[in-house]
Amino acid sequence: MITEKDISKTVGRTIKSPIRVGGLRDFKINQVSFLDFFKPFFESLEDDHYLVRGKQIVFLKTIFSEDAESIEKFHKSYFEGTVSTDVLTRWIERLNSDQKQKFDQLSMITRQRSIASFEVEIWDDTFFVERILHKGFEQDVDDFRVWKRVFTQAPSQLVENDLFFELLKKMAGLVKEIHPDIRKIQITSHFMRTISRETIKGENAPEGIHEDGAQYIMSALVINRQNIEGAESQIYEKTNSADKELVYKKILDPGEFIFQADTGEEFTFGNDLWHYVTPIAPIDVLKPGIRDIIGFDMDILE
Ligand SMILES: [Fe+2]
Repeated sequence: MITEKDISKTVGRTIKSPIRVGGLRDFKINQVSFLDFFKPFFESLEDDHYLVRGKQIVFLKTIFSEDAESIEKFHKSYFEGTVSTDVLTRWIERLNSDQKQKFDQLSMITRQRSIASFEVEIWDDTFFVERILHKGFEQDVDDFRVWKRVFTQAPSQLVENDLFFELLKKMAGLVKEIHPDIRKIQITSHFMRTISRETIKGENAPEGIHEDGAQYIMSALVINRQNIEGAESQIYEKTNSADKELVYKKILDPGEFIFQADTGEEFTFGNDLWHYVTPIAPIDVLKPGIRDIIGFDMDILE
């Protein structure tokens, strides 16, 4: 595995916060069996309407800047799905044909997802995994992502099995290597498909360079890349000048992952890491381009 020590050598200064770039093989998990088992499931993920709703609001606010305040009033309720598109009709109707075409384009689903959360308890170096069911998903961050999003729970046959539990234990093991005394970790997994079409880029990180609001993350364990270019995973360090400097980048192949400290680590380690993934576009424009990943948030509970 590549660690922050290797990256420090490359960038010529010390990155203190933990980073691990590796693959299922580093976990001694059979990559072929793992990918074969999880790949088909991504065909049946649910559409992420939150992403579309957010983009629609931003677009309307840009076009009707004089009404930005009135539009913003509906932002949260529309985003959370407690009101329908009807609240935006009065602006949508006033779009000219060019603008309407753009609006329809950004209304197309480019992300699908489902979620599953777990607690991993550690007793004398033995790991015990238990699934927990959350009602909603809220991120501890400063933008719209703090609003409540309810994502479909991943089916039990997908995530309640030895293969997935083994992965969760290995991930908890990564955190335990850094914090040997921990007893309990919460891990939330996000199964995500990003879709791009000829004129529509697929964005897995529409918020730009960001943090996820967890102590540690596996920003992506890649399951599938199909007919795409792009999706370069990037790690940034926020420096004293408040700029974010790129310290590592890699296009992850299926079976590969990046694990890194995410939020609050600047107080523990003295380095503030952020991350991003570049958009995808299809290579053959006649077909959709697809990237499937599992992302993980990890928080130490005890
Ligand atoms: Fe992220």
